[in-house]
Amino acid sequence: MDQVDNSLIGKLNKIGVALSSEHNLSRLLEMIVKELRSFTNSDGGSLYIRVDDELSFEVAQNDTFARRTGNVPFKSFRLPIDHKSIAGHVASTGDILNIPDLDKLSEDEVPFRLTTMREFDKKMDYKTVSMLLVPMRNHKDEIIGVVQLINSLDEQNNPIPFEKNVEGLVISIASQAAVAICNSVLIQDIKNLFESIVTYSAEAIDARSPHTAGHSERVSALVIKQAEFINDQKDGPLADINYSEEEINELRIASLLHDIGKIGVKERVLDKANKLSDEKVEAIVNRFAFINRDIENSTNLKKLESPELSKEDIETLDTETRDKIAEIDADIELIIKLNIPKYYSDEEGEHLEQIAKKKYIDINGDEKPYIDSEELENLKVKKGNLTEKERNEIQGHVRHTLNILDKIPFTEELKSIPTIAAAHHEMLNGSGYPNGIKGEDISFQSRIVAIADIYDALTAKDRPYKPPLPLEITLKILREEADNNKLDQNLVNLFISEEIYSKV
Ligand SMILES: [Fe+2]
Ligand SMILES: [Fe+2]
Repeated sequence: MDQVDNSLIGKLNKIGVALSSEHNLSRLLEMIVKELRSFTNSDGGSLYIRVDDELSFEVAQNDTFARRTGNVPFKSFRLPIDHKSIAGHVASTGDILNIPDLDKLSEDEVPFRLTTMREFDKKMDYKTVSMLLVPMRNHKDEIIGVVQLINSLDEQNNPIPFEKNVEGLVISIASQAAVAICNSVLIQDIKNLFESIVTYSAEAIDARSPHTAGHSERVSALVIKQAEFINDQKDGPLADINYSEEEINELRIASLLHDIGKIGVKERVLDKANKLSDEKVEAIVNRFAFINRDIENSTNLKKLESPELSKEDIETLDTETRDKIAEIDADIELIIKLNIPKYYSDEEGEHLEQIAKKKYIDINGDEKPYIDSEELENLKVKKGNLTEKERNEIQGHVRHTLNILDKIPFTEELKSIPTIAAAHHEMLNGSGYPNGIKGEDISFQSRIVAIADIYDALTAKDRPYKPPLPLEITLKILREEADNNKLDQNLVNLFISEEIYSKV
């Protein structure tokens, strides 16, 4: 094999490697036209991709136009796959078309129309002389597009016909290009599929409770903004941290999925607004009304069955009954008050314990407590609205998050998603959950998610257990959490000083 052939093979190999390593479709299409033009020394080139029954015009390159105006006019359009256009004709037949001189062709001799080409030349003040059109066939021999090369140039830059012997090589490059396009489309399809699974999973988690609607999406937006601002830091403590496009994408997905473990938390617990549900409070109110009626009934019965009772006895009986009812009314009033998660006094706590000790006879004649142990446990909660068991269940969502995400075979670029997501409730001083890890053991990415998560939880308008906090108080809380070494001081400073919360 001579030297020329060797350099040709080298060039072909180089093109093949370049094509297979570019996965961005639009860059790949540009590269295909550029390589084929350089290979054939063409002034111009275009590329069409088959979309259903049409050809979509995707790339236009032309050195003459670029020299004249600095750019090449381009407007995407679609062509039917038929014989009305040259590219459509090539896509229909699958034949290579080498036109040495367009002027020497007449409409009646060829099975396609030349009008569009000629109109284009006139409009653009250009002269198309030679053309080489090649169908792009993928590994299944399907035509997935057409490459159109215009005006092969000699050394003096004059248009000459495309040499017959380059046809085979152009076909070969076009086939490699077709495979690269298919791979790129396939990769994009998989990415789109993955993206929609992530998006819908995040929406599904948030939709489990009306109170978390949009939470994951907002947290993700805040996280990305923080990462962008960190990247912009030229000096100061965050100047050395730089997130690549892939790392920001990893952070974005981790924050979209950070609460995916809530899927394992009961809705009753997620939705809890007060200590007891409205239905449970209603049941208690009805029960107490029954107890009241029962007391009144037994007084009336006593009066009926004991005609010997004196006026004084009856008055005493009535007073006792009224006192009992007043006591029960006070009991139910306390229960309704304690159901709202607010501070209550030790006396009120003692009063609640007393109520729980009281018994009544229910409709079946069974002895029952005024309030059962579960109702007592809920009403006794001192801080917030959750019992310890419920709090553990809610806090367990991060363990579920890790369990779920750990089972997903993330690619190398996304492999830290489970650990970033699962540490969003860990605090730098070790007071967080689920593992109580500290400082350096909490990744920077998780610290970023933690700030976004707290900010959104405090300011969200739809949380049942607390109304949204004003911005000023929210920022004060974030500062306090940083001062107490729970949140990262530098990140909180950046979040507040750059008003990142207002930039999403
Ligand atoms: Fe969470
Ligand atoms: Fe969250």
